[in-house]
Amino acid sequence: MTAKELVKLAYEAQTRSYSPYSGFATGAALEAADGRIFLGCNVENAAYSPTNCAERTAFFKAVSEGARSFVRIAVVGNRPNEAGNYCPPCGVCRQVMREFCDPEQFEILLAKSPQDYKVLLLKDLLPESFGPENLEEV
Ligand code: THU
Repeated sequence: MTAKELVKLAYEAQTRSYSPYSGFATGAALEAADGRIFLGCNVENAAYSPTNCAERTAFFKAVSEGARSFVRIAVVGNRPNEAGNYCPPCGVCRQVMREFCDPEQFEILLAKSPQDYKVLLLKDLLPESFGPENLEEV
């Protein structure tokens, strides 16, 4: 799977967004180390706070299917007719990534079009982070 193909899958996931309240549709495509791809979209709720972001939907689908090791995730998000901006993951999603991914290795592909994306490392989006190692017994 190329980075471009992963970005394309994030746009496919975005078409299934359930976002009647914000009108901001997001999509994510998560590549596991074993090659499996998990798609996610945002799923909003009338009570607002139960809303799940596209990235977490993809991660929770993956983890619930047994994947524990990940290579990269592509993320897209925009309102209709407002394409062309990057959609950086929210803080909660960054922390969920931190649970399962090596901050030095895990790549986050932010796309503003299927052809135009940039690649960031988790360590740069979540510096000095708290993770599973911090709770290891000494
Ligand atoms: N959202 C995501 O799905 N991912 C992000 O990285 C940022 C925000 C969703 C949550 C909500 O449904 C909508 O976008 C507006 O915040």
